[in-house]
Amino acid sequence: MTVAAPTLDLDRPAGRPAPLIDPFARAITYLRVSVTDRCDFRCVYCMSEHMSFLPKADLLTLEELDRLCSAFVVKGVRKLRLTGGEPLVRRGIMTLFASLSRHLATGTLDELTLTTNGSQLVKYAAELRGYGVARVNVSLDTLDPDKFRAITRWGDLDQVLAGIDAAQAAGLKVKINAVALKGVNEDELAGLVTWAHGRGMELTIIEVMPLGDIGEERLAQYLPLSIVRARLAERFTLADIDYNTGGPARYVRVAETGGRLGFITPMTHNFCESCNRVRITCTGTLYMCLGQEDAADLRSPLRASESNDPLYAAIDEAITRKPKGHDFVIDRRHKRPALSRHMSVTGG
Ligand SMILES: C[S@@+](CC[C@H](N)C(=O)[O-])C[C@H]1O[C@@H](n2cnc3c(N)ncnc32)[C@H](O)[C@@H]1O
Ligand code: SF4
Repeated sequence: MTVAAPTLDLDRPAGRPAPLIDPFARAITYLRVSVTDRCDFRCVYCMSEHMSFLPKADLLTLEELDRLCSAFVVKGVRKLRLTGGEPLVRRGIMTLFASLSRHLATGTLDELTLTTNGSQLVKYAAELRGYGVARVNVSLDTLDPDKFRAITRWGDLDQVLAGIDAAQAAGLKVKINAVALKGVNEDELAGLVTWAHGRGMELTIIEVMPLGDIGEERLAQYLPLSIVRARLAERFTLADIDYNTGGPARYVRVAETGGRLGFITPMTHNFCESCNRVRITCTGTLYMCLGQEDAADLRSPLRASESNDPLYAAIDEAITRKPKGHDFVIDRRHKRPALSRHMSVTGG
């Protein structure tokens, strides 16, 4: 399958559409796109074991994903992250990377990257590097094979570790994302720091977020990163560093390893003032904020016309609604999450 050539609007002689500036004067330069809601794992904090997935007709085609991403690039997005579900299980996904790489070649895009569970990296790492992908985020919560199976339900640790090896061998920089889970991997986090930094990889620890169905289990998994950080500080010397990607991560340098360690604490810290990002689901729904329900349908304008003008208009209108910030709350009495959608729908 081939992805269509760049859409005509990219070369409009009338000039580029206005860049995306929200009502709080934040420039939107980072887009995360979920290319599928499907996955070859069933991580306990992300999906139920018997997830029902969206009908194929609802999903954007690869051509539509290309058109949508390219429209955002025209409107000033400089960094594009493909995610999911598991982006590398979407059939034909390499054609999308291939076609989006043209924006790297022209210099209109600074970075094309992905977040992956790593299961398919043995197969795709070299190809991704060939399409200009320089870095990948790999999600890995434990180095214990049995725990790994328990957390991911269907995953195989060796396959992921081989994927990380393949990524590094192909010249990709790897960052590891680990979700901190109370009573599951909390005793392993220091070991993960040593392991990741020892292999030249950055590590980011993520606080579990109240997305999707939670019930008792998710509440029981919640481990505040303030506790994680305090425990790590007993073992390592952590120095705050002034490194900011516009997202919810705060970074420290670990003196003993020389490596960088990030903490993503969406529930306990406010990171919204510098927010530069928006997210699109695999059905073309634009979420202006990970922590709020307000959204805009971009699939309709995309499918309604061959011209990108209705799409640009819908994007502009949506950005005027980007909220100043969010507030995640777990309703402990009713054991309900603040948001009903799953992370695999919005993308991580
Ligand atoms: C939804 S996954 C999609 C990409 C890919 N399948 C992966 O696992 O990297 C993106 C990230 O979201 C994280 N994630 C999923 N559900 C979460 C939750 N409830 N709280 C915090 N992080 C979560 C995952 O650990 C992963 O790092
Ligand atoms: S976190 Fe990633 S790998 Fe795990 S179930 Fe969700 S989408 Fe799949």
